[in-house]
Amino acid sequence: MAVTETVQIDRERVLELIQREGGRLDERTQGSKATYERARRHLTGGVASSYQLRDPWPIYLERGEGPKVWDVDGNEMWDFHNGFGSMVQGHAHPAIGRAVSGRYPLGTHFAAPTEDAIVVGDELARRWGLPKWRYTNSGSEATMDAIRIARAHTGRETIMKIFGSYHGHHDGVMVSIGVEYDKIGDRDNLASLPYGAGIPEAIVELTVAVPFNDAEAMERRIERLDREGRKPACVIMEAAMMNLGVVLPEPGYLEAVRDITRRHGIVLIFDEVKTGLCIAAGGATERFGVTPDMVTLAKALGGGLPAGAIGGTEDAMRTVEDGSVYQVGTYNGNPLTMAAARANLVEVMTPEAYTKLDALNERILAGCTRVIEEHKLPGYAVGVGSKGCVTFSPAKIVDYESFKANQDKDLAELAWLYNMNRGIFMTPGREEEWTLSVTHTEEAVDRYVEVFAEMARDLTA
Ligand SMILES: Cc1ncc(COP(=O)(O)O)c(C=O)c1O
Repeated sequence: MAVTETVQIDRERVLELIQREGGRLDERTQGSKATYERARRHLTGGVASSYQLRDPWPIYLERGEGPKVWDVDGNEMWDFHNGFGSMVQGHAHPAIGRAVSGRYPLGTHFAAPTEDAIVVGDELARRWGLPKWRYTNSGSEATMDAIRIARAHTGRETIMKIFGSYHGHHDGVMVSIGVEYDKIGDRDNLASLPYGAGIPEAIVELTVAVPFNDAEAMERRIERLDREGRKPACVIMEAAMMNLGVVLPEPGYLEAVRDITRRHGIVLIFDEVKTGLCIAAGGATERFGVTPDMVTLAKALGGGLPAGAIGGTEDAMRTVEDGSVYQVGTYNGNPLTMAAARANLVEVMTPEAYTKLDALNERILAGCTRVIEEHKLPGYAVGVGSKGCVTFSPAKIVDYESFKANQDKDLAELAWLYNMNRGIFMTPGREEEWTLSVTHTEEAVDRYVEVFAEMARDLTA
């Protein structure tokens, strides 16, 4: 937890270091600069997804192997970004490579089911304790379809989410994320605000957000919505928030949410696109011991290929089984992706893999905590499974409100620059976390801590 007595951070020093480190990074990434000039001619903004944008130019990568990546300038880095947490297996894992190259000569797409899809479904059912599964090609498709299934199941249209949580890029969930602190509104009546342009107001109004870690506020809002004739079909949430750094559920919170949703006949969806396969074999569901009605997976499922999945109880998935909901997609269960997912689940993300990830994460968290304590920095290290971060905040972050009020953006930016200039490829953006891979070593996590210590020394010298 945050150290009680902290140093006064010299803001001028922070800005000076940001400038120095930014200049260094520019110098070291001239190849990326040149690539950007070429890319932006026909690739909008020079990137394939807006989350890859960065000023003054994105860092273009060339290759990855195990725990490392190389950019187009030849800079070699330990990868703590890992494709927004998709590559928990490490890059170019031989088992996944064998599965993909074994599948290729047999044909890569039929839009008909193959055996691998069955094996993957069996394994997911075992891990999550949910009997029925379907596939998608991304996390956004998984959450979009899960919400549709919940709406069909309950015959209701309103959905409830956690304020500040990201669940993908479809209209219904691009609501009440990443907005200015003063626009959030009253805690008991948080605003429904579109995240970016192009989202119809009619859709925004159907999505209602509540604060994380506050089950009572959730229940009060549900009761009010019920009185207004707008009871939600589902609560879609991450069991541990993964886009404000890492925000863990407070003791008893998930159990209370499970109880509330059950009592009110609301479908509980754990969006495990980030947590699934990364924090335990059975994701947050296993780690925190609370089973929802449905889960959504993607990212780490496909071992680097685009895969998503929806799991549910017999009851929750009944509308798909009886044909009233069309859960469809040409590439759903694509044979190449399923071959990769099978190898990923059966050969790579084994019980030993999770033991290793837990131990490495403990080591990096302990190392970062030591640095924080030694230098009396305003912050704390927090994590679970393969994921973690240093949150620069004098107070504990429990929800979006406390994040916006307390997180020190400049320190987060500075930490990113220090990492990038010292061989640590880290997720851009101050709201992300590291993801370790099974190929990471003690040397890799010790390097992360060393770089953090160097920043702490420079800041407090
Ligand atoms: C929790 C969560 N849900 C859904 C998504 C959307 O996944 P995708 O980018 O594969 O559409 C993300 C992506 O970051 C996510 O973090």
